[in-house]
Amino acid sequence: MLLDNHGRNINYLRLAVTDRCNLRCFYCMPEHGLQWLERKELMSFEEMLRVCTLLVNMGINKIRITGGEPFVRKDIMHFLSALSKLKGLNEIAVTTNGVQTAPLIPDLIKLGIKSINLSLDSLDRQRFFSITRRDELPAVLDTYHQLLKHKISLRLNAVVMDGKNIEDILPLVDLAKNDPVSVRFIEEMPFNGTDHEYIKLEWDHVRILNHIKEKYPDIKKIPDPPHSTSYNYKIPGHAGTVGIIAAYTRSFCGTCNRIRITPQGVLKTCLYDHGVLNIRDLIRGIHTDIELQNTIINTLQKRAINGWEAEKARNSNDPVLESMASIGG
Ligand code: GTP
Ligand code: 5AD
Ligand code: SF4
Repeated sequence: MLLDNHGRNINYLRLAVTDRCNLRCFYCMPEHGLQWLERKELMSFEEMLRVCTLLVNMGINKIRITGGEPFVRKDIMHFLSALSKLKGLNEIAVTTNGVQTAPLIPDLIKLGIKSINLSLDSLDRQRFFSITRRDELPAVLDTYHQLLKHKISLRLNAVVMDGKNIEDILPLVDLAKNDPVSVRFIEEMPFNGTDHEYIKLEWDHVRILNHIKEKYPDIKKIPDPPHSTSYNYKIPGHAGTVGIIAAYTRSFCGTCNRIRITPQGVLKTCLYDHGVLNIRDLIRGIHTDIELQNTIINTLQKRAINGWEAEKARNSNDPVLESMASIGG
């Protein structure tokens, strides 16, 4: 069992396998993309597998694959196949934008992947284009329908953006009328890869809920699973559920069970810290597994109590303006 200095059990790794993406969501990166990492800067699959094996032996039992967009990395399916053979790893999950995911679904099922989080910020083709700067809504909707057809547990992620997709909130909620899907609305965070920081968050979790309540006053709170990032709700008669993620407000840190590894192999013990250990360089050195494990255990003893403390500990020349694609979400 892996405990941090606040007694929280760490059993969940979010592994970002690439910073590259086939969309250009404006809340994540600038229109021209990022200065992409060179191949040698990324952890190789062998390196990622070594780190995952080590962490699973230490107590990690769930790994979520993120990016960038994970499926733009070549040979990702081979990596997932190797990961699926790790003893002690109970769950592999993936967060994807769905642009090129549909044809991979049968293979993902064969690997035992049972749940997918799909980013979808708008059901309107023009607004989808203005948010993601790519005309890929039809491909994403195809992925959505294929996932439902294959009975994969499906959660949608919609970042709520003032002036961009407020008119999409209710149509997205209505997807859960007939489809057994969890539609989740996320507070926008400042991780957009530009020097643009918001002065004020216009749509926090309370305002999002109140907006939904205007149409559905009988929406009911339902219990949140342990370590859930979302507050969850049900509208009577709907097949699916609604979730709201207070990602900016950071009200769920007390039960946080997760660590992150960025595409270049940097360990983050909070989404808001600036990286606390370069695992890639350590494993490129001549460290034994025991040495690596001890270094990771020591690092977890300095974990911030919440995202506010982690943000405060950053150097003032280094505000939280990285791209989500270089963090892994
Ligand atoms: P689970 O693996 O089931 O917990 O899924 P998830 O909701 O954490 O994963 P997903 O990749 O779908 O992320 C949804 C949103 O929650 C994204 O905007 C994430 O950046 C945000 N999020 C995930 N983990 C954290 C966290 O530890 N802190 C904060 N503030 N936001 C997070
Ligand atoms: N604020 C909130 N959520 C974001 N995501 C990407 N960038 C941001 C941001 N700036 C979400 C994506 C994806 C998830 C992993 O993170 O929509 O679903
Ligand atoms: Fe790509 Fe996700 Fe960033 Fe959009 S939010 S550009 S889909 S990595």
